[in-house]
Amino acid sequence: MNKLDTALVAGALKEAGFRLTDTVKDADVVLINTCSVREHAEQRVMSHLGHLKHIKKSHPDLVVGIIGCMAQRLGDELLKHEAVNLVCGPAQIPRLSTLIADAIQGKKLTATVTEKIRQKPTGEQNRSLDEFESAYGTEDKQIPAQAFVRVMRGCNNFCTYCIVPYVRGPEVSRPPEAIMEQIRKLADNGVKQVTLLGQRVNAYRYPKGETTWSLADVLDAASNIEGIERLKFVTSFPSEEFFDDILQVMAGSPKVCNYLHIPAQSGSDRILHAMNRHYSSGEYLELLERARDIVPDIAIAGDFIVGFPGETEADFEATVDLVKKARYKNAFIFKYSPRPGTTADKRLHDTIPADIKQRRNVELLAVQEKISDELSRDFLGKQVNVLVEGLSKKSHVNRDQDDNPQLIGRTSGDWIVVFNGPESLTGKFAQVKITAVSPLTLFGQLG
Ligand code: 5AD
Ligand code: SF4
Repeated sequence: MNKLDTALVAGALKEAGFRLTDTVKDADVVLINTCSVREHAEQRVMSHLGHLKHIKKSHPDLVVGIIGCMAQRLGDELLKHEAVNLVCGPAQIPRLSTLIADAIQGKKLTATVTEKIRQKPTGEQNRSLDEFESAYGTEDKQIPAQAFVRVMRGCNNFCTYCIVPYVRGPEVSRPPEAIMEQIRKLADNGVKQVTLLGQRVNAYRYPKGETTWSLADVLDAASNIEGIERLKFVTSFPSEEFFDDILQVMAGSPKVCNYLHIPAQSGSDRILHAMNRHYSSGEYLELLERARDIVPDIAIAGDFIVGFPGETEADFEATVDLVKKARYKNAFIFKYSPRPGTTADKRLHDTIPADIKQRRNVELLAVQEKISDELSRDFLGKQVNVLVEGLSKKSHVNRDQDDNPQLIGRTSGDWIVVFNGPESLTGKFAQVKITAVSPLTLFGQLG
């Protein structure tokens, strides 16, 4: 979501006459797009600001802006920081270039955030964001031939640990025509893979005439757009009601990737209830089973929070058990971080000490790594179709003695593949034969 917002802002600012620079020292304006999901992300922003305060001593005209969720969460409080000139929340980004122009002229600004963030946005507010999205959603693709397209904004689920509903506002589905128009433009510009984004993307609903569009309809319509070869969507919420139709489209369309990111967060029913997740671990596992029945080779990824308030060893063991049964391709594991204003923070205490959170994190990662390792071995000797992202940034052991550089790409199931090949393959599909594996990466040769 943040990568997309950064790309949209970069597109809008380019049109307003700005150019991107590579170093802070060359910049007249520095914008930090922020995340509030965990405290650590916010702390990093504060340390960047400390650094910028220093730079401003020799560049007093430098304009520093904070955008994104932290801007919405802290508003004017951030403006009190010596380094900060402007603050702009996620729903206000269409106004950003005007705000920057004002700041450059030395105007004193107040924070531009949404006053009543949980109030249903007006038609006008939705239109303004939608137009911004459509206008700049086709610019500045961070990976060649790939793009993100938001299908929904906000979230109504109020998981008790989560800040998102308080900074991104109520759930709003974008009109299907706007989404399709955007994907069509992207395809015309050479985009082959589109990832549809929403906090609970499978809850997408848009009433249209007699019917209501679901995510399955969006996927179906998007897969008919010429030039689009791959469609992915993140993140799915494990709920009964928005599920089978999407999986049917996945099974039926070669373009819809057989990949599901569907966070469980915990394997303990007691903790799931305290998190307000509306499902039990048994129900969650049933959903995965159904997904595998409908799409047999589906790759599934998950998220977990360890150290939620009151999480006992037995609760944690239930999570370990769920991870073993779920057989994820990979899982993202986070240590619970209390977020101000959330129900968990107001009603519960952050009872689990840091060292226990750390131990559980490491333990769960090890369990998952073993599974990822087992699953990756299935690829040995097989040929995979990879969309090439470009040069591999990490330098892996170079297994081939040829002059080509190491490239990185992904399978439709989101496995990372490293292989030697000409850089000109970037943005194209390639067939790669897998010759070696590690838990999170497949290695192979063009062929
Ligand atoms: N503490 C730790 N992790 C969190 N997440 C969301 N809120 C918190 C929090 N307060 C994690 C969830 C979610 C992912 C995006 O971040 O696992 O799926
Ligand atoms: Fe946060 Fe829960 Fe909404 Fe996901 S579904 S964004 S975890 S409140």
